[in-house]
Amino acid sequence: MNTLRLTVFDIEKDRENLIKAAEILKSGGLVGIPTETVYGLAANTFDEEAVSNIFKAKGRPQDNPLIVHVSDMEMVKELVSELPEKAKLCAEKFWPGPFTMVLPRGDKVPKSVSAGLDTVAVRMPSNLVARELIKVSGLPLAAPSANLSGSPSPTTADHVLFDLDGKIDAVIVSDKCDVGLESTVISLCCEPPRLLRPGGVTLEQLQEMLPDIVVDKAVLAQPEKGKPVASPGMKYKHYSPKARVIMLDGEFEDFKNYVADHTDDGTFALVFEGEEQELSVPCVSFGHKDDELEQAAVLFDALRELDSCGCKVCYARVPQKSGVGLAVYNRLIRAAAFEVVTL
Ligand code: TXA
Ligand code: MG
Repeated sequence: MNTLRLTVFDIEKDRENLIKAAEILKSGGLVGIPTETVYGLAANTFDEEAVSNIFKAKGRPQDNPLIVHVSDMEMVKELVSELPEKAKLCAEKFWPGPFTMVLPRGDKVPKSVSAGLDTVAVRMPSNLVARELIKVSGLPLAAPSANLSGSPSPTTADHVLFDLDGKIDAVIVSDKCDVGLESTVISLCCEPPRLLRPGGVTLEQLQEMLPDIVVDKAVLAQPEKGKPVASPGMKYKHYSPKARVIMLDGEFEDFKNYVADHTDDGTFALVFEGEEQELSVPCVSFGHKDDELEQAAVLFDALRELDSCGCKVCYARVPQKSGVGLAVYNRLIRAAAFEVVTL
């Protein structure tokens, strides 16, 4: 299958391509779409065969549910069996934006979208191209990140094609994703509400709306083998470059010394901007030390760059865990398969 490239930078000027993408979705195809977080691999939520093709194209485990993307609150009502008061408040505050709510699943949503769970994850993206595509097609779009399962999420159409060219019908070529990391996921199907995955909407912002929200253990630590997890996606090794990533938790001086003592062929360091010249090995940087928004925006590109440079082992600096930094930390520790050395 040839993957069609459809350029949509402007929803008015590039309307024809937007309509083409909507037609592909309506006839059961798969389209890579830009969002403000990462690129998604979209299909019609109500078309079970299209949904099953998403899992095939990505090599995604069948037990990992998808997020359904909507353009307005009317669409949300089609998807859920009940819309709790807290969900309405959160929707007003955080939508459209990088924020996903797990809600009671309505009968219209095929079980396969939710990997058999009786809940459904719903998000209204702020990216205009994504929202307009949902509107034009008239379909809520089921979309995981548009990468091969396990590899870093894509933030450009080129990343999508690198992983999925020939396996999907089309990709929309558009602006780079601004946030750079996947959305915040919370569950409102439990009491108290639970943060399942940190993202662009921060824990601090959520606590203002939901003071009793708890952070799922899987956000910061490796889920125990064999135990059920609230968000199935959390149990997989994720976001990983092919290189072995090891996080070194400590001061920069100790980081430098450790790397100098452990240098071999193919050793790299993943450091903060400006630190590169002080290291004795090749470096890739992921934003300034105190700028977690920048770190989020470039982390996945940095992980992909490590692979393209032939990196075998990479020692990584540890980001702060506050604000969006919690999301950066959550992705990096998964890329490192939870391998952390305390200096
Ligand atoms: O920003 C994003 O959320 C991107 C863009 C494309 O919107 N999508 C994305 O999808 O990151 P994906 O499939 O890569 O991650 C979805 C996460 C997984 O960790 C999955 O386990 C969790 O959301 N999830 C989905 N439905 C769920 C449900 N019903 N209950 C618990 N967790 C759920
Ligand atoms: Mg993903």
